[in-house]
Amino acid sequence: MQSYKEYWTGVFYKKFTKAYPAEQLIKIFKGTYPKLHFDKSFSNKKVLDMGSANGRNTALMVELGFKEVIACDISQDLIDLTRKNVENVERERESNTIVKYIIGTNDHIPVQDNYFDFVVSWGSSYYMSDALVDYKDNIAELARILKRNGILILDNPQQNASIYDDTVNVRLNYWRGKDGIICKRFDSVQEIIEELEPYFYDFATSELSLDCFGRNDSRYTIVCRKK
Ligand SMILES: C[S@@+](CC[C@H](N)C(=O)[O-])C[C@H]1O[C@@H](n2cnc3c(N)ncnc32)[C@H](O)[C@@H]1O
Repeated sequence: MQSYKEYWTGVFYKKFTKAYPAEQLIKIFKGTYPKLHFDKSFSNKKVLDMGSANGRNTALMVELGFKEVIACDISQDLIDLTRKNVENVERERESNTIVKYIIGTNDHIPVQDNYFDFVVSWGSSYYMSDALVDYKDNIAELARILKRNGILILDNPQQNASIYDDTVNVRLNYWRGKDGIICKRFDSVQEIIEELEPYFYDFATSELSLDCFGRNDSRYTIVCRKK
């Protein structure tokens, strides 16, 4: 069976040639909403794009003018793809952003404690590196690298999303796909908040129900602060 690194490299090399940022993430960084409040001056802030894949959101962070952006993913191939898309943006505009590229997993991110002002985990925190990893391990690791009062932006699929089609239940709320990858599934946004509460406060949430031409892309998105 292929490893989960080979699986993800295959997904992004074969299927996605264009790298448009996630629309909901653009809204969070650039929009104004009644229940979403954080300082939007980025030029003195450091941000992590955890699970950068093809770098579509990393490129957005560079465009937003962060002081430092670190992209992290599980394989060198994905990091190379991220770098390629970021360099396209850097070529188009003058950028003072320092961009770094690292390999890591949700439960092991090779960065010192309390480093980031922002951590973005867009469609990635619910993946386990192996069968023994628990979602709590992933959240503890994301909390470790954020500064106190730093912002976590976390996006997970809803329980009826298509990524859970054809998965097999391996333990309570953990599902294994045909590719062998184990994901945690949440049945409500409150369930995610309960996992985050030991480390985070000030929760703002968005729930997007999306039947996208036959594929269910419904999402829970949370913005919160580290205690
Ligand atoms: C659904 S994609 C989302 C990618 C990207 N954030 C985006 O919005 O386009 C999932 C990403 O999580 C990464 N991933 C898979 N397992 C992981 C793990 N155990 N730790 C960290 N990242 C993982 C994959 O390599 C892939 O880049």
